Amino acid sequence: MCGIVGYIGDKEALPILIDGLKKLEYRGYDSAGIAIIGKDLTVVKTQGRISDLEKKLSTEEIQGTIGIGHTRWATHGIPNDINAHPHFSESKNIVVVHNGIIENYIEIKKMLIKEGKVFRSETDTEVIPYLIEEFYEGDLLKAVNKATDLLEGSYAIAVMSKNERDRFIVVRKDSPLVLGVGDHENFVASDIPALLQYTKDIIILENGDIADIHKDSYTIYDRDLKPIRRNIQRIDWKIEDAQKGGFKHFMLKEIFEEPNVIKEAMRGRIKGDSIEIPELKLTKEELSSINQVYFVACGTAYHAGLVGRYLVEKYLKIPSTAEVASEFRYRDPVIDKHTLLFVVSQSGETADTLAALRLGKAKGAKTIGIVNVVGSSVSREVDNVIYIHAGPEIAVASTKAYVAQVEVIALIVLYMAKILGCLETEEEKHLAKEFNALYDRANNIIQRCGEIADFVSTTKNIEETFYIGRNLDFALSLEGALKLKEISYIHAEGYPAGELKHGPLALITPNSLVIAINTYKPLREKTLSNIKEVKARGGKVLAIAEEGNSNIEEVADRVFYVPKTRDDLAPIVNIIPLQLIAYYMAETRGLDIDKPRNLAKSVTVE
Ligand code: G6P
Repeated sequence: MCGIVGYIGDKEALPILIDGLKKLEYRGYDSAGIAIIGKDLTVVKTQGRISDLEKKLSTEEIQGTIGIGHTRWATHGIPNDINAHPHFSESKNIVVVHNGIIENYIEIKKMLIKEGKVFRSETDTEVIPYLIEEFYEGDLLKAVNKATDLLEGSYAIAVMSKNERDRFIVVRKDSPLVLGVGDHENFVASDIPALLQYTKDIIILENGDIADIHKDSYTIYDRDLKPIRRNIQRIDWKIEDAQKGGFKHFMLKEIFEEPNVIKEAMRGRIKGDSIEIPELKLTKEELSSINQVYFVACGTAYHAGLVGRYLVEKYLKIPSTAEVASEFRYRDPVIDKHTLLFVVSQSGETADTLAALRLGKAKGAKTIGIVNVVGSSVSREVDNVIYIHAGPEIAVASTKAYVAQVEVIALIVLYMAKILGCLETEEEKHLAKEFNALYDRANNIIQRCGEIADFVSTTKNIEETFYIGRNLDFALSLEGALKLKEISYIHAEGYPAGELKHGPLALITPNSLVIAINTYKPLREKTLSNIKEVKARGGKVLAIAEEGNSNIEEVADRVFYVPKTRDDLAPIVNIIPLQLIAYYMAETRGLDIDKPRNLAKSVTVE
C-alpha cells in the first residue's frame, strides 16, 4: 500500500503534491518523493516521512505546474533514498510512481538487463519506466498501454515524460486510483482525502482504466484505447473524516480492508491450482531435517502463531509449540539446528520478539520471519523473511495484520507439506480453491456487520465475557477476548471450551456474556454441550456458527452465521465477527478506539 498524487493546472504543483501526500501518509510512510516538470524534469525523494521530504525540499526551488508524488510502504527493497519513488526510466526522460506489486518484475528485469539496461534500485516498480521507454515512439499514452500489457500483479501508476509537458498518464489494476476534476486543473490520487481541499468532483477509476490527463481535459480509455465514460461523483465528506475513508475509526476501516488484504497476501502464492512460496529459502533436505517447530511472538501475532501450531502438527507431522516471546526468551528452550523458529511480528520491532529471535539463532535454529513492515529489525535478522503485505496498520489493536499473518502461515505450512511430499495434488487443488473463496466469504461477513452491531446493543449490562472454543476455535477465542479487552476495557477471557467446568463456570451469572465459537466441524457437538452448560447457569450466549448448523439456535441466545469454510483456513475469516464485536462494544461506550488507554502499537521496550 502506497499513496500517489498527481497535479496538472495553472498553480504551482509542489504545495499541492505535498499537501496531498500528507493526507495519504496513512497509506505508507517509510519514504516519499515528488517529480515536477518545470524548466527541467526534477525528482526529489528521501527515506522517511513527508516532513523529511519537506526538509530536503526547503533548500531547493522547484517550480512547475505539472507533477506527481508518492508516499511509500515498502514491499520490494528496503526503505532508502534509492528505492523511494518516483523512479526514472534509464534515460531519465520518463518518471513513474506506483502503488501495488509487479509479480513478474524479475522476469522483466532479467530481459531488460540482457538488452544492456542498468537498474538503479531494488524495487519491482523500476521495470515500469524502463519498459515504457522501450515502447516510447513519441506518444506516452500508447507506450504506457503497451508496457502495462506486460505487467502481472497489481498497480496504480502515474507517468510523466519530459518530452510531453502537457499531460500525465495513469493506469489502474487492483490498486485504487481516483481522478479529481477541477477548473483548468485536474488531479489524481490513491484516495479521495488527498483531493477534497481542491475539488469535490471525483471519478473512481475502475480496473483496466487508463487515463490521459491534461489541464483542461481528461480522457479515460479501456485497454484497447477506446474512450469510455465514467461518472463524476460529488463527494461531501468532512476533511477531518476523509483520511479514514469515511469510517469513524481506523480500526473499522482496517477491518473493512480485510477482503483485499486476504487477496494481497496470496498474490503470487496461489497460482492456479498450486500453492507456492517463491521467497522460501529452505530446501527439501533442510526441511526434512527439522524435528520441532516454534512460533514466537507477542499479543495478536502470538495468537496467529497458535493457529500455525495446529497446522504444523496436522500437515507436517512435526511437534510444534507457540510461545509468548517474553517467556521464551527467559527460558532455556531445547533448540538446535533441527529447530525451525517462526518469528511473527506486524511491526518487526517488538523488543521481546527480537530477543526471542536472537536467542533462537544463537542456539542454531533456522528462522523465518512473518512480518509486515519491510526492512524492520526482525526482517533483517531472520534467515528468511516472508512478508504479509497487509499495508500500514494504524489502529493500535491489530486486525488486518492478524488475518494476513494467519493466511501467510497457512500458505507456508501447506507449501512445506507439498515440498515434503505430505500434500496430495487433489488436496492442494481443493485448498487453492478454498483460498480463492476467502475474499467473498470475508466480504459476506463484513456486509453483515449490522447484525453484530445490533447484537451488541443488547449487551449493555454485561460485566464480563468468556470466549470459548475448541481446537482452531480456541485459538480464535483467545484473540477475540484480547480484542475486547484492548479496546472496550470489558473483562474478557478466552478458554478452551472443555476447560469451562474446571473453573470459569463458577463465574457465570446472568450478567456474563459467553461468545461461543463453534465452527470447527469435528468438535461441533462437544462445544454444543459446553454451551448448554453455560445456559443452564443463566449466562447469555452469542454463538458463531457455520451456515447450515441451525440446531445451535435452540441453545444459544443469538447466532452469527459465518460462510462454510474448510476448517484449516476458517480462522482467516472467522476472526472478523470477533473483531467487530470488540469494535461495536467499544463504540457504544464512546471510547478512544484507535488509541486505547495504556497501550502502544509497537512495543520496542521490555
Ligand atoms: C502490541 C500491539 C499489539 C501487537 C503486539 C505485537 O501489544 O498493541 O497489537 O499484537 O504489540 O506486535 P508486533 O508488531 O510484534 O506484531
